[in-house]
Amino acid sequence: MKKAQIGIVGLGVMGQSLSLNFERNGYAVAGYDLDTAKVEKFLAKSAEGKAIFRVDSPTELMAALEKPRSILLMVPAGKPVDSAIAGLKDSMDAGDILIDGGNSYFLDTERRSKALAAEGLHFVGMGISGGEEGALWGPSMMFGGPKEAWDTLKPMLEAIAAKADDGAPCVTLLGPHGSGHYVKMVHNGIEYADMQLIAEIYDFLHRGLGLNNSALAKIFHDWNEGPLQSYLIEITARIFQKKDAKSANDLVDMIVDEAEQKGTGKWTSQNAFDIGAAIPTINAAVESRIISGLKEERVAASKVLHGPDQTKPDTDVDALVQAAHDALLASKVAAYAQGMEMLQTASLEYQYDLKITEIAKIWRAGCIIRARLLKDIMKSYQEKPQLANLLLDSAFKKVVESNQDNWRKIIKMAIDQGIPVLALSSALAYFDAYRSERLPANLTQAQRDFFGAHTYRRIDREGSFHTDWVTEE
Ligand code: 6PG
Repeated sequence: MKKAQIGIVGLGVMGQSLSLNFERNGYAVAGYDLDTAKVEKFLAKSAEGKAIFRVDSPTELMAALEKPRSILLMVPAGKPVDSAIAGLKDSMDAGDILIDGGNSYFLDTERRSKALAAEGLHFVGMGISGGEEGALWGPSMMFGGPKEAWDTLKPMLEAIAAKADDGAPCVTLLGPHGSGHYVKMVHNGIEYADMQLIAEIYDFLHRGLGLNNSALAKIFHDWNEGPLQSYLIEITARIFQKKDAKSANDLVDMIVDEAEQKGTGKWTSQNAFDIGAAIPTINAAVESRIISGLKEERVAASKVLHGPDQTKPDTDVDALVQAAHDALLASKVAAYAQGMEMLQTASLEYQYDLKITEIAKIWRAGCIIRARLLKDIMKSYQEKPQLANLLLDSAFKKVVESNQDNWRKIIKMAIDQGIPVLALSSALAYFDAYRSERLPANLTQAQRDFFGAHTYRRIDREGSFHTDWVTEE
C-alpha cells in the first residue's frame, strides 16, 4: 500500500479539516482517533475516494507513514497531549517528528520538546489559527521547533497554509521549542483585545447612539473597506445581519451576554506579568470577559447602582460614527503595539530570537486577527527590526496622533453615558503613559520608601537613597 506523508492523531473538527486540506494538496493522510465511529463517519461523509485512511493503533500508524515520520497531534491542550505522546513515542524512531497543533501552553511545549529531544525525536509546537474554515482552506501556522523538522515539513505546510496577497504562505519557522505556541498565545491575546474593542464600540453605537442592527451592519461593512479592514470587522458586519431561526429577532440580540474563554488570553496576561510586559488592553479584554460572566450579580447590581442618565447625544450621528471609527483604529494600533512589544520582550527573556516582521507576515492571512494593518506592521519592522514600539513608527505615529481627538471624544462620551470602555480607555491610557516623559512614579517610590524603606533613586545623583520621612527636619 502507498504510504502516507502525514499522520493526524485526533480527528475532531480541526483534525478533519486539516486532513482534507493536506489531501487536497496532494498528501496522503493516515488518521488515528480512539473514537473509530467518528472517523468512519467522517470518512464516509467527507473523505470518500480521498487519500485519507484510518489506522487503529500506534503500530499501524507507524507502518502507514513515510520515514522520517511526521505526526500531527490535534488533541485538546493539557493532559490529552501528554497521553497522546506517551502512547506514540515508543513506536517512533529517532528522527521522526511529532507536531502539537493545539493551543498548548508554551512552557508545556518547552518541557515536552526537551524530553523528546533526549529520546532522539523532534518535537514541534505549532500554533494554528483560523478555526475550522482556516484549517480546511488555509490556516496561519506558527511553527516552533528544530530546524531539521522545519526543513522536512516546509513544503507540506507551505502547501496547506493561507496565502497572503503577495502569494507568501502564512507559515514559517519562528524559533525553537515553545516559541510557536508562545506566538500563538500572544496572537490570541491580541484577538481578545481586538474583539473587546469592537464590542465596546458596538455598545457605544447601539446603547449610546441608539443605532439598530441593520445600521450597525452597514457601518461595519463600510469600515471593512478602509484601514480597519479585517476578518473580525467583516464577521461583525455579518453577525448583525443574521436573523434568528427560533424567534422573529436578530440572532445577536438573543445571545446571552456572558463571554467565555478557554484560557489563552488569560495566559497572555499572566505571562506578561512574569516577563514585565505592559499589555493593558489585552488585560482589559480578559477582565471584561470575567465581568461579563458575573451575569447574576450584574442584574442585581443594575437595580441598585445608578449611573448617569442615558440621554442620546444631541449631535451629528454620522460625525460620531466617524469618530467611533477613529477611536477603534487608534485603539487597535495601541493594542497591536502592546502585543508586538510583548513578543520582543519574550524573545529576549526566552532566547527565541523572534523576528517581528516574520510574525506580522504570517498573520496577514488565515488567522483570526488577519487585518490590513498587518501589512504595514510587517513593513515597519522590516525597515526597523529593533523598533522599540510600533507607536514610534512614523506611519503609526501619524495614525494615532491624527485620530486622537476623536479617540478621546468617544471615550469621554462613553464615560459620560456610563458605558464601560475598559479596553478603549486602557488603549488610550497606554498611549498617554508611553508618551509621558514624567509619570507619577516618583510619588509611588516615595510611598514605598516611607512605609517600607525600599529606597529610591534621585534625578540629580547616582545611588539609592532612603529618607526618614517621619522625623521632622
Ligand atoms: C484561532 C483562535 C482559536 C481559539 C478560539 C477560542 O486563532 O483560531 O484563537 O485558537 O481557540 O478563538 O478562544 P477562546 O475560547 O479563548 O475565546
